[in-house]
Amino acid sequence: MPVVYEEFEALKSFVEFTEEDEKNLASLADVVAKHGPALTDHFYDTLGSVPETAKIIEGRVESLKKTHRQYMVELTSGSYGNDYFERRARIGQVHVARGIDPRFVEGVMSVIRAGMLKAIAEEIDDPAELASKASSFIKLCDLDLAIINLAYSEERLDRFSEFTGMKRKLIENVITMPKR
Ligand code: HEM
Repeated sequence: MPVVYEEFEALKSFVEFTEEDEKNLASLADVVAKHGPALTDHFYDTLGSVPETAKIIEGRVESLKKTHRQYMVELTSGSYGNDYFERRARIGQVHVARGIDPRFVEGVMSVIRAGMLKAIAEEIDDPAELASKASSFIKLCDLDLAIINLAYSEERLDRFSEFTGMKRKLIENVITMPKR
């Protein structure tokens, strides 16, 4: 069962992601234009630094960097509706289909979060503006990760159901059964 747009909307409202956040993020487009490519390089250096992920990206780093730069640009598009949601859900599906351990997805999101916060702080002097825009950026990273992770767990359950023949409902009942 794929993760649906309504879940994204509910999450946005839960974390109080407002129009002000959208405007804040759109105003950070120049920061991504200036610092995004170096951040993307850092992202792939990190993935290249451990054997488990290095072997997955080997020989395709340059093409992966292109999609990642686009990913960074989308973070500051200012538009976070259904199209945005679909692209984020797809990232989860693509990674689980390639057998990428979700712990590395969680971990490497830290490179984006920390790197952008540093970049924003370099470009904005006013403390109140800096705090407000940094907070919007963190919210969006958290929303992205939540959607990627939801897509991950849904895809995993679907695959388990498909390969074992167990119905999704039965699997979910087993997972939520009280422990003896
Ligand atoms: C926050 C974490 C991550 C983000 C935002 C991200 C972003 C993306 C995006 C946007 C794509 C293109 C998806 C598409 O085709 O629509 C992609 C593909 C890919 N990513 Fe990631 N990624 C993350 C973590 C990782 C990790 C931990 C690995 C581990 C090596 C990885 C390896 C790959 C590979 C191999 C592909 C190509 C998949 C294929 O088309 O065969 N990514 N990623």
